[in-house]
Amino acid sequence: MEIRISPSLLSADFARLGAEAQAMENAGADMLHIDVMDGHFVPNISYGPVVMRSLRKASSMFFDTHLMISEPLRYIEDYVKAGAGLITFHVESDDDPAAVIEKIRSFGVHPAISLKPKTPAEAVFPYLASVDMVLVMTVEPGLGGQSFMEDMMPQIAAIKNEAARIGHPLDIQVDGGIDERTAPIAVGAGANILVAGSSLFHQADYVSAIRNLRMAAQAAL
Ligand code: DX5
Ligand code: ZN
Repeated sequence: MEIRISPSLLSADFARLGAEAQAMENAGADMLHIDVMDGHFVPNISYGPVVMRSLRKASSMFFDTHLMISEPLRYIEDYVKAGAGLITFHVESDDDPAAVIEKIRSFGVHPAISLKPKTPAEAVFPYLASVDMVLVMTVEPGLGGQSFMEDMMPQIAAIKNEAARIGHPLDIQVDGGIDERTAPIAVGAGANILVAGSSLFHQADYVSAIRNLRMAAQAAL
């Protein structure tokens, strides 16, 4: 299993988003995690497709888009046009998950589903066969810099087991409080894509930040 690292732009300097994205790309990041918050599904507001479209011109990285929004169905096309390579939406959002997945897939973009910490793993089971990735939140969505919830590890294992049972292996992404200490815990539980915001962007040297996180994660394989 290959570990992939997706720096969360939410912890970047918003006045220099293009340069921050390029710096993470040059430092060896595998993709860029773009957190979209609407002030409704989660309390905060971040950025939307207009910002993403500008970033698309500044970076050739794969855009890993995490929609923390209500009514995702309405906005899928906007994020496809803005350059998303993968779109994650929340099973708790108000639209029919099957319809959202189908819409994402219809544009040739990878669909992924996410669940909040209080949502049981079983909530995403009906959709596992039709997604390419599940994002297990290890903090309450809405804010960077929170502490990793280790009690979410059984959720990762449950989703991985169910995916194996139905014969549909998928990527498992973890998001929230990931650093050199917690990454091996998540990888040990079965995650292979690590989102990290503050633990990467708050370091002066992005190259060593990514290298050290990758080494810590790989040690758990
Ligand atoms: C939280 C976001 C995360 C956040 C992670 O709602 O989905 O992607 O930026 O930040 P850290 O790594 O600082 O916990
Ligand atoms: Zn995220």
